[in-house]
Amino acid sequence: MEPKRFRISDSLVPMDIRASTNPMTVRARSCLDRLNARHPWSHNDHFHGWILRNLPEQRRRALDVGCGRGALIAALADRFAHVEGTDHDQTMRDVATQRTAELANVTVTAHQLDELAGPYDLITMVAVLHHLDLDRTLAQIRRLLAPGGRFLVVGLAPPVSTADQVWDLTSAVANPLIGIVKHPRPAATRLAPQFPVMDPTIPFDELCARFAAELPGSRLRRRLCFRYTAVWTNAQVI
Ligand SMILES: C[S@@+](CC[C@H](N)C(=O)[O-])C[C@H]1O[C@@H](n2cnc3c(N)ncnc32)[C@H](O)[C@@H]1O
Repeated sequence: MEPKRFRISDSLVPMDIRASTNPMTVRARSCLDRLNARHPWSHNDHFHGWILRNLPEQRRRALDVGCGRGALIAALADRFAHVEGTDHDQTMRDVATQRTAELANVTVTAHQLDELAGPYDLITMVAVLHHLDLDRTLAQIRRLLAPGGRFLVVGLAPPVSTADQVWDLTSAVANPLIGIVKHPRPAATRLAPQFPVMDPTIPFDELCARFAAELPGSRLRRRLCFRYTAVWTNAQVI
């Protein structure tokens, strides 16, 4: 049998830790899974601070697409004159409506982007864009965003390139450490209804190209926590 040749590229391309069947990787993965289960935290809510630090100057109307359980629309309520959360899932809308019941300037609806009339000063999507048709959605954002308004995305992309995989591996290691810092005590069982999820299919490099084509000047960055962020400010004169 021919001996396996070592290739330089083998040492440069990090392994896909989700797919690997190497026994050491499998053991490390199950250890990380156990730690993550004991110290769970929301990767999505983790980015709310980033959103709140990047709000546009004008704060009339904000729209959170796919608002899920409504944590972000509640956080935006005292920063905008009116906040709308949309979600096509009835359970999510019920939870979000209940959560924001005391906030008179918040509404929760089932509207799709093409049913909405702008302009909005802020449109956010947290872990939602990969549920939607990318090009149609970006075109709707152009239509709906006010001059000077801002589109903020916290998104997911599959790890495809070497750079993606390095970020993925780093996130996998950082994940339980962040969980332990955020929730030092092991968690009790989760009670909140789980929202609909979907695996992302468009890699980060392709997202950058398609954002650049539809929303010139947009900035995308890979982040820890298995996420990327995207920012586009509608530069039309106010
Ligand atoms: C992974 S969850 C994220 C929820 C929330 N943004 C958060 O950060 O917790 C994705 C959400 O997008 C919603 N969603 C998926 N497709 C949608 C659509 N076409 N219109 C509105 N909401 C949608 C799902 O119902 C789900 O609540």
